[in-house]
Amino acid sequence: MLKLSISFNRKVERFSMKRLDQVISQEGVSAELELVIKDILVACKDIAYKLGQGELAGILGATEDENIQGETQKMLDVISNDLLKDTLCSNAFVKGVGSEEEDYTIAGHADGKYLVTFDPLDGSSNIDVNLSVGTIFSILEAPEDSRTGDDQNIFLQPGRKQVAAGYVLYGPSTLLVMTTGKGVNLFTLDANVGEFVLTQEQLKITEDTAEFAINMSNQRFWEPEMKEYIDHCLQGEEGPLGKRYNMRWVASMVAEVHRILIRGGIFMYPYDSRDPSKAGKLRLMYEGNPMSMIVEQAGGLSSTGHQCIMDVEPQDIHDRVPVILGSKNEVKKVVAMYGDYITKS
Ligand code: AHG
Ligand code: MN
Ligand code: MN
Repeated sequence: MLKLSISFNRKVERFSMKRLDQVISQEGVSAELELVIKDILVACKDIAYKLGQGELAGILGATEDENIQGETQKMLDVISNDLLKDTLCSNAFVKGVGSEEEDYTIAGHADGKYLVTFDPLDGSSNIDVNLSVGTIFSILEAPEDSRTGDDQNIFLQPGRKQVAAGYVLYGPSTLLVMTTGKGVNLFTLDANVGEFVLTQEQLKITEDTAEFAINMSNQRFWEPEMKEYIDHCLQGEEGPLGKRYNMRWVASMVAEVHRILIRGGIFMYPYDSRDPSKAGKLRLMYEGNPMSMIVEQAGGLSSTGHQCIMDVEPQDIHDRVPVILGSKNEVKKVVAMYGDYITKS
């Protein structure tokens, strides 16, 4: 009897929580930015619905096209990209958009104040096996003197200038994790009413962890510093780090970062020598910067190994970046391996 009444009380407490627009307005976000965020979420709700339909809608599987990243596009990569692009480019406050799936940036409204970059579907190799995928977004202000929203130079701002960043995780529940620079909040989509409802306020990443996420199959291509750190982890209690580590790899950055926000951990997609012309696999403007802002706003750290990801000056909209992020003390251990960069405390 007692158990039942506890769970009933918790349920009541959850349903009395705030809606997304109430949270955003309390954070002092401008009405224009709020409308941009809401439009991103309109597209994400549609993506969530389409993912749920899957095979029934005949939208699983790959297209015959490759994106500018040299990766085969899944049908849902293209559908998600079109939904975000079309919704945002018709928003009066969006000057332009940049997407992992587009060769060039696209103009929105000439007077728009904001630039949005996004990875429409992250972890899309998971689609055909019905595992977690996500959408990642980053919002910047357009420089005041900028003329056209399809000029990629106006997008080339370091991640420190982001005014908002977030991701939607399409898992057993559809979740939104977002920051406007005032901490990180977690919302759950109530599909019955089509609203994101605040379900966890001010997420904080644990400072310590014994769980790492890295694609171990690339080990022979890593730099010596990364090889050494992972070697220390694998030595467990007997090794220099003195603890037994666990490993996870979902192959979806959104899912990995979400796990880290909830229970701590470290995620790494470091530089590797498979294609020496690329600085890493992940993209700075669509993946590295927004995740870095979220992680730092939740008390974690992010680094390339040499500097904070958000301090990297982009040269091209599709720039790649090595990524090390998560629990503060563990990221510091990896960065210490690289030796020439002292993290802030
Ligand atoms: P995307 O599906 O947008 O191309 O991104 C996939 C990314 C990232 O989400 C994940 O961490 C990583 O690539 C997976 O890489 P592997 O193929 O090496 O596992
Ligand atoms: Mn991605
Ligand atoms: Mn993608």
